[in-house]
Amino acid sequence: MHDIQQMLEEKRAKARLGGGEKRIAAQHAKGKLTARERLELLFDEGTFEEWDMFVEHRCVDFGMAENKIPGDGVVTGYGMINGRLAFSFSQDFTVFGGALSESHAEKICKIMDQAMKVGAPVIGLNDSGGARIQEGVASLGGYADVFQKNVLASGVIPQISMIMGPCAGGAVYSPAMTDFIFMVKDSSYMFVTGPEVVKTVTHEEVTAEELGGATTHNSKSGVADLAFENDVEAILMLRRFFNYLPLNNREKAPSRPSGDPGNRLDLSLDTLVPDNANKPYDMKELILKTVDDGDFFELQPDYAKNIIIGMARMDGQTVGIVANQPLVLAGCLDIKSSIKAARFVRFCDAFNIPVITFVDVPGFMPGTSQEYGGIIKHGAKLLYAYAECTVPKVTVITRKAYGGAYDVMASKHLRGDVNFAWPNAEIAVMGAKGAVEIIFREDKGDPEKLAAKEAEYKARFANPFVAGARGFIDDVIQPHETRKRICRSLAMLKDKKLENPWRKHGNIPL
Ligand code: COA
Repeated sequence: MHDIQQMLEEKRAKARLGGGEKRIAAQHAKGKLTARERLELLFDEGTFEEWDMFVEHRCVDFGMAENKIPGDGVVTGYGMINGRLAFSFSQDFTVFGGALSESHAEKICKIMDQAMKVGAPVIGLNDSGGARIQEGVASLGGYADVFQKNVLASGVIPQISMIMGPCAGGAVYSPAMTDFIFMVKDSSYMFVTGPEVVKTVTHEEVTAEELGGATTHNSKSGVADLAFENDVEAILMLRRFFNYLPLNNREKAPSRPSGDPGNRLDLSLDTLVPDNANKPYDMKELILKTVDDGDFFELQPDYAKNIIIGMARMDGQTVGIVANQPLVLAGCLDIKSSIKAARFVRFCDAFNIPVITFVDVPGFMPGTSQEYGGIIKHGAKLLYAYAECTVPKVTVITRKAYGGAYDVMASKHLRGDVNFAWPNAEIAVMGAKGAVEIIFREDKGDPEKLAAKEAEYKARFANPFVAGARGFIDDVIQPHETRKRICRSLAMLKDKKLENPWRKHGNIPL
């Protein structure tokens, strides 16, 4: 018995060593933690249960029969994050460059299946040279198996990808199908084809960092949701983010009591919006002053900055925040911002997270680049997302809500549950100036008359009471009581039940 116990410990020790001391040192020299060190940080101390530590690849080509490392380049299992269950796989770059073999893929699929059965999120820590070259198509099949599971798990359990090293070729498509992609600056990159292939095909010279580094995907492509300075910060922030999420689509989003009273007033909000309707102001100030403890977990902060998205809590309950940002492009909706917000609203809807929308939108962005780029189709994504969404929806119009964009931004017409407007809100087809220039085109040469008409139009339409008279908004509220009114609305909506008609799936414009 003693011998076999000793053998077990030796086997474990071998597996824990992954690709060996030298490769571990090389990993550290790149400023990266090892797969196991990352898991130790991710899970509450001593809670990680590892599975499949003794799994090996089955490849015999290219000398691989003699080259086996227990665990085969990925550490999988489950544990607790702040006391709540989560599954994870962590690719081990020290073992065959973290490359994905058939067995490696099977390990990932196994924990995904288990996570689905028990209803707990899957967190992927990606650090891999891609498909295991020695295995050929077997490894491609492995990828496809993972993709299929990603799709089946989508909307059932939250899936989060942390990119902590290379992620190239087909490997990018598993993270791409998860709910959130976080990246580590300078040590991670994602691309479908690398710089060498790019150079051969398009003659562009580009570094891996420029092509697919964290900055690129967080500011240019919008593929990633956040970028972090290093592995430690990334994992600690992931733990924080995890606290906002329900474990699965049948659970309510978690609640964390706060000392911040739900009826707290903030008088400074009464002067947030400048008197001049064309002057911008920072919508983030409203968000920070409204949510519990000023604690807002923003996502995609450097991409499509004309819309803000992120997680927060109101009276302890997780909420998703969507807000136009007047500081950037006057808060217009364009292709990128519509896609950014639409995906977020759909995530919240899938996982029972109420959506709070702050509106100050002068309309959709005009121009050929927007029209040629398909703003009709992409803007429709946000409209579709809000319209199909059945979780509690509370909307506050702080200033402009013009045209079709008014409809889109969680309006009453799209089953908004509670729709508020601040007293200076302008809910209209368009701004007074533009409206008058169209209706009174024949008076173009008479600026005095136009000014009078503009004032008349403004007095008639640039207020929240026309919409209020029709019940399109439920109340006009003082800015300083915004938090109180949202908290009360959410409490009222706690047991909201609303279902869409049965269908296989809708056909969101893609
Ligand atoms: N299959 C098998 N082994 C792989 C691999 C893969 N896809 N990618 C990396 N490795 C191995 C390397 O052979 C090396 O093994 P060793 O430690 O025994 O020498 C180890 O992983 C580390 O790779 P290395 O190239 O030294 O690391 P690096 O940091 O310099 O470069 C990559 C990392 C990912 C850029 C580079 O390894 C690479 O280009 N890999 C191939 C990517 C690819 O084309 N994948 C297949 C298509 S999806």
